[in-house]
Amino acid sequence: MAERMMAGGLDKPDAALDVTLRPSLFSEFTGQAKVKERLEIAIEAAQKRGEPLDHILLNGPPGLGKTTLANIIAKAMGTSLKNTSGPTIEKAGDLAGLLTNLEAGDILFIDEIHRLQKTIEEYLYPAMEDFKRSGIRIDQGPNARSVRLEPPARQLLIGATTRSGLLTAPLLTRFAVRERLDYYEAADLQQIVSRSAKLLSIETDTAGAFEIARRSRGTPRIANNLLRRVRDYAQVRGDGRVDAALADRALAMLEIDSDGLDEMDKRILEAVIVKFGGGPVGVNSLAVAVGEEPDTLEEVYEPYLIMEGYLKRTAQGRVATELSYRKLGLKAGDSTQGRLL
Ligand SMILES: Nc1ncnc2c1ncn2[C@@H]1O[C@H](COP(=O)(O)OP(=O)(O)O)[C@@H](O)[C@H]1O
Ligand SMILES: [Mg+2]
Repeated sequence: MAERMMAGGLDKPDAALDVTLRPSLFSEFTGQAKVKERLEIAIEAAQKRGEPLDHILLNGPPGLGKTTLANIIAKAMGTSLKNTSGPTIEKAGDLAGLLTNLEAGDILFIDEIHRLQKTIEEYLYPAMEDFKRSGIRIDQGPNARSVRLEPPARQLLIGATTRSGLLTAPLLTRFAVRERLDYYEAADLQQIVSRSAKLLSIETDTAGAFEIARRSRGTPRIANNLLRRVRDYAQVRGDGRVDAALADRALAMLEIDSDGLDEMDKRILEAVIVKFGGGPVGVNSLAVAVGEEPDTLEEVYEPYLIMEGYLKRTAQGRVATELSYRKLGLKAGDSTQGRLL
């Protein structure tokens, strides 16, 4: 249940909550100081010159604020964001439709842009090259028809991806601005938790917010989700207030340990160590062993485990570290014959 909540919290964001808690101004967007500064400067400079912004690619694990930033950029530019995502653009005609329906100044946001079909991707290039004059001809393939598009002036494309490594070089290079979001420091997340608590009228003190923050895998979306779960606990098992001790009890009940690892994280580490003798193990075998999709493993779980030093990624596969043996209370050599089986 705990691991469902984590993966679920990342894969399927609670749309209503996301909107309530989503900052709409750069000044409300906590952390990622360098990314924020570079984007703010690019926007202001473009506005001063009266020129369009360069296309922007936002890269990073789920829940770190890519969609939020895209919306903030649109608002700062005084324009609106038209949302779509790689997997929902099934035919070149879908893309053509999107581009024709853009009004002057609109920003097109393509989420999960690495999942855009390569054949469709090519129709994006001319539009990205010069949104002012480009025409798109669609007259090939199974859905052959001839369309000529004249997208209005000054369109900007913002792409978001959890896997920029999967983007083709021609697409990647067409984004002049590429920013990578990293996991948040606990202090930044604490501010995010405190802000969300205020918006949701949850009574928390700084220590309570910090306890949630430091166990949220550096991820604002998880911090917000955990805050709500901790509130439930506080209302049922406490007096509604969230302090550090209560947050600790609530998170323990949710099986999120003191380092912020959840059940799935531990299942992954245990599989690498016990089933695969500490590794190296390929992502597909590991995914089968823990009953998760390889993509989810790579996009959601591994980046954090690697950053925290629990896993190493080598050319041969994933390898457990000293730290992960310690986390599970195992010694190197505890493997297939180890005591967990
Ligand atoms: N820097 C931030 N400051 C405050 N809240 C944030 C920040 N980044 C993300 N969030 C919160 O986390 C949620 C998830 O962010 P989102 O932009 O949807 O992530 P992504 O698109 O990268 O998966 C948002 O709804 C917002 O409430
Ligand atoms: Mg998003």
